[in-house]
Amino acid sequence: MIGTRIRDFLTRLPLVRRQLKSRWKKTMRQQIAASAGAKDAFTLIYRTNYWGNDESASGNGSSLASTETLRLELAGLLQRLAIRSMLDAPCGDFNWMRTVPFPEGFHYIGGDIVDDLVAGCRARHGAADREFIVLDLTRDAHPPTDLWFCRDGLIHLSNADILGALTRFVESGARYCLLTHYHAVEENTDITTGLTRHTNLMLPPFGLPPPREQLPDRPVGEAARELGLWTRADIAQALGL
Ligand SMILES: C[S@@+](CC[C@H](N)C(=O)[O-])C[C@H]1O[C@@H](n2cnc3c(N)ncnc32)[C@H](O)[C@@H]1O
Repeated sequence: MIGTRIRDFLTRLPLVRRQLKSRWKKTMRQQIAASAGAKDAFTLIYRTNYWGNDESASGNGSSLASTETLRLELAGLLQRLAIRSMLDAPCGDFNWMRTVPFPEGFHYIGGDIVDDLVAGCRARHGAADREFIVLDLTRDAHPPTDLWFCRDGLIHLSNADILGALTRFVESGARYCLLTHYHAVEENTDITTGLTRHTNLMLPPFGLPPPREQLPDRPVGEAARELGLWTRADIAQALGL
């Protein structure tokens, strides 16, 4: 009884809480890296709320506050480029995208590798012009749309998986892609799919040309990045496809 009280007291101390959280994160990173595959890794992340945000299962960068600038910029770009359909993959929990005003007659497809996440999106947000599908964007054929939107997705994939995703985009026939891109990163490193690092898509092993347009993405308390716009021909040429 006294032991339980002392333990309860200690776990409420900020320093002890921080240490426990850091130990939990380390154990989780090991489990994610040892997962049988991408679906297992991201399902574990989702079920444990590993990215630790109360508003969005997709993490701090996916809150409404973190996407304030981006939401306006994206709505403007969809109008300007006359985009009629979009594959948003990964769509995560659709927390902020649900507030983006899509143009009249627009068809939205959200795709994610986590079954539970897609089922939840379908139940809460599904409509005739708003579909949610289970999709491994690195291996499965992308449904043909005008634009592949990929925010905070490639940063969690190994370099081989990123190249797989870019290849699927080229095969899909979509006109454009908008991809998270960190222009300030000076050298790309590789990771096990499921972990996180920032990628500069203009550097090896990707070697994309400079983006045709960049939308600023400024999540609260995180490194600034852009969503770079490329055409299918830009990506095909860079990858030699
Ligand atoms: C940080 S969230 C970003 C979600 C969303 N783009 C946003 O801005 O809120 C990353 C998502 O990528 C999904 N994911 C990871 N690998 C994937 C893959 N190969 N195919 C589809 N989704 C994947 C995860 O399940 C997770 O929901």
